[in-house]
Order: sequence, then C-alpha cells, then structure tokens
Amino acid sequence: MDFTERVRRIEPSATVAISNKASELGSEGVDVVDLSVGDIVDFDTPENIKTAAKEALDAGHTGYTPSSGIPALKRAIVDKLHDGGLDQYGTDNVMVTPGGKQGLFEVFQTLAEEGDEVVLLDPAWVSYEAMAKVVGADITRVDTAKYDFALEPAVDDLAAAVSEDTDYLVVNSPGNPHGAVYSDEALAGVRDVAVENHITVFSDEIYKEITYDGVESTSLGTLDGMRDRTITFNGFSKAYAMTGWRLGYYAAPEEVVDQAGKIHGHSVTCAVNFVQHAGVEALENTDDAVEEMRRAFQQRRDMLVDLFAEYGTEVPTPEGAFYLMVPVWDDDVAWAEEAIEKAHVATVPGSAFGTSGWVRLAYANSEDRLREGVQRLAEHDLL
Ligand SMILES: Cc1ncc(COP(=O)(O)O)c(C=O)c1O
Repeated sequence: MDFTERVRRIEPSATVAISNKASELGSEGVDVVDLSVGDIVDFDTPENIKTAAKEALDAGHTGYTPSSGIPALKRAIVDKLHDGGLDQYGTDNVMVTPGGKQGLFEVFQTLAEEGDEVVLLDPAWVSYEAMAKVVGADITRVDTAKYDFALEPAVDDLAAAVSEDTDYLVVNSPGNPHGAVYSDEALAGVRDVAVENHITVFSDEIYKEITYDGVESTSLGTLDGMRDRTITFNGFSKAYAMTGWRLGYYAAPEEVVDQAGKIHGHSVTCAVNFVQHAGVEALENTDDAVEEMRRAFQQRRDMLVDLFAEYGTEVPTPEGAFYLMVPVWDDDVAWAEEAIEKAHVATVPGSAFGTSGWVRLAYANSEDRLREGVQRLAEHDLL
C-alpha cells in the first residue's frame, strides 16, 4: 500500500504507546503502576448519568440524531456556556461531537491548511501537533516549562514568536500535561497578542471543572476582543468520568459550525443518540458528583506534591486537571523507559508534549497506587 504523506507525517499517540507497554507487562503478570493515561481510573460515571442512558435506550433513542446534536443537549450546553460568561453562543453556534478530540480534529480540518502557522504553548497535549501536521500546517512552539508552566511570564515570548503570518494559537487551561490554570492577566496578554496579529484561538477547556484551592479557570472567549476569534472546546470525559462514552462539543461563530458541519456530517454523522441524552443529565444534575471527584483529585495532588518533596524532588504545584510534571533526566525518554522497566511505573516522557527533561504523571488513580508509584521511583533512584 502507498500511504499518504499526511499520515506519514504523524506518529502514533505516545500516551497510548506507553499504556500499551504497561498492559503488555501487566499481561505477563507484572504489577505495573500505570500513571501514564489521562483516564479516570477509580471513579465510575455517576449513577444518574448511567440511568439516563439506560432510560434513553429503553425509550428507543437509538437512531441517528440531527448532525449537530439533539436540541435538548445543545440547549443545556448553551446554558452551561452562558454560566461561564460565554453569552455570545446560541444553539446555532454549538456542535456536539463524539468526544472533544473529534471537535478539535474537525475544526483543524476546517480552518487550517498547508503552510498555515499554528502556535502551541509547550508542553502541549500530544494531539494538537498531530492534528496540525495532518493538515500540513507549520508549528511554532513557545516554551512555558522554564516558567514552571505559568503563562504570564511567557506572554512576551509568545508575542515575539508570532507575526502577522500566524494563523492559529491553541490555549489549554487547565492544561494537559502541566495542570496550570492560566491567570486572567496571562489571558489578557494572549488577547492582546491575538488581536494585534489577527490570530484565531482554539481554547480547549476540557478540564475547566477541575481546579483547586478556589482557583477558577476563565474562558478566553469571554474577554473583549476574543468573542468572535475564539473557538471553545469542551467535553464530558473528564468532568463526569465519561471517557469511554465519547461525548464533547465546541462552540464557534456560526459560519465555522456550518463549514465544519460538512466534515462532521460526512464522517461521524452525529454523536451517539442515547449518550447525548445522558449528556443532558450530566450537565443538569451532576454537580455534587463533580465536586466529590474534584475534591479527591485535590487531595491526591497535595499528597503527591508533599511526597515528592519528601524525596527531595520539587514539582510545580498544578492548580487544575489531574496531571503533574516531574523534573527528571535531560533524556526523559530514557528515564521513562527505566521507570517502566525497572520500577514498573508507567509515565509519559515530556518530550512527547514538546518539553524534554520532564515526565507527566496522571493522578486520576487511588492514593495507595500513587504512593506506591512514587515509592518505587525513589527505591530505584529515579528521584
Ligand atoms: C487537553 C485535552 N483536550 C482534549 C481531550 C479529548 O478528550 P475527549 O476526546 O475524551 O473528549 C483530551 C483527552 O485526553 C485532553 O487531554
């Protein structure tokens, strides 16, 4: 077979590759502490959401839905967006997608093309790079690791990196893999850069509900100047422990939704019917369960930051999401290989996210397993 240039430009997901390695060792009987995946390991989808899905199935909601989503879900999404201050969006601005990832993919396909310039704030989630490469865009990377992942000090670097030729910037706050929540000052700086250089911003807010210590994550599209130049992405995977259900959405100016709707309609048709009904329940009646998970993640974060400090490793304290970046050897890939092979702890090398010298550790796992993982790393002189 002859493979296309666009598929040859990308690599398989590094996070999936590592978790496959962890499963392989697991199937050989090795007890692997898998801190590599962005899945929520020890929380199940809240019961009311599961019940809503079962009821929707029993009620016969099994056929295709309107391509952009069922009206009830789009209305609930619009209410949610309005609660967060994004009052520019109505139901015609919303596209319901099978997972947030599909939404990002569709919008990259719709807006970016060969030779366009896409700016990523490193370390950046692995799939942005792949999505940009598939369309043949050029990627410019701005490093935030040197500021312990804070964006405010990196705004000058961002301003220096962009030009009138820059087309798109991806912002992810709270962010994967670093867990930073960008301050309002930093977002205002991004706004100034975007407006001055006519840049469209993709704001990935999939971890918006998961923040700590009372910190709130502001939606970029609420800022003056950003209302029409921001596309807001979100999904149900993280806040509601629904990773396997595949449900997400984006909100954008109507012309973007109309054009991207062609890709959506000709590829996935629509998100799963009964899952969309469950999505309405998630948005409307699940605040307590979300809060319970958020609190548990905060406790784990605190426990981990302290535990690393006890072993002499200072880690930047994340304010959101459920990831932590740990400084390791310059050759983070070699470190991660040693960690999985000797300590049987799976992590993701930072270089997969554009930042070497660090690894990402996901802490959506039980406290016992997390403690066990860190202890094993220490025992094998990896801290
Ligand atoms: C930053 C970020 N955006 C988007 C997604 C996509 O999530 P999903 O497709 O499960 O909605 C993920 C998943 O890991 C993520 O980490």
